[in-house]
Amino acid sequence: MVLKIGILTVSDRAFTGKYEDKSGPAIADYFNNILLDEWQSTSEIVPDEIPQIEAQLINMADNDKCSLIITTGGTGPALRDVTPEATEAVCQKMLPGFGEQMRMVSVLTVPTAILSRQTAGIRNESLIINLPGKPKAIKECLDAVIMAVPYCVELIGGTFFKIDNSKVNTSLS
Ligand code: MTE
Repeated sequence: MVLKIGILTVSDRAFTGKYEDKSGPAIADYFNNILLDEWQSTSEIVPDEIPQIEAQLINMADNDKCSLIITTGGTGPALRDVTPEATEAVCQKMLPGFGEQMRMVSVLTVPTAILSRQTAGIRNESLIINLPGKPKAIKECLDAVIMAVPYCVELIGGTFFKIDNSKVNTSLS
């Protein structure tokens, strides 16, 4: 089965078109660069609203059968930042190590990285990972955890895939 990856941009401004979504395309670029297998993506933009984030996560996991779902945005402390809450609500299991590792690596170059409440969890056969909204955070955060992602997806019964380790910057991890 071909690997499917869901890319969910969570942003009021990107949803209304006030701001161009650069983080969603940066996630697609990241996987185009490191994946050794064929893959398909499905991308959506939703506002910072728990019901809409939950509905898209459920749709990508249950209907689109995405083995991996990457969200970007809405992880901070502001009132409307609710992506981690929506993620937790749709997951059966949380994987707090992902958020811990991404913050640990990010804080070495970005002091404000501790403001992100980014997390990860499992819904059925899908691994959901939250990333911050800044385009430059995409590679910084994914490089910090990507080595564990194929094995995690294999353990939950998702689609098997391989990554090119030489493309991953592990110097901070
Ligand atoms: N992590 C990395 N690697 N790079 C960044 O630029 N920005 C931080 C943090 N984590 C950042 C980062 C900032 S400024 C904020 S406010 C939080 O992520 C939350 O961002 P979000 O609400 O867009 O998800």
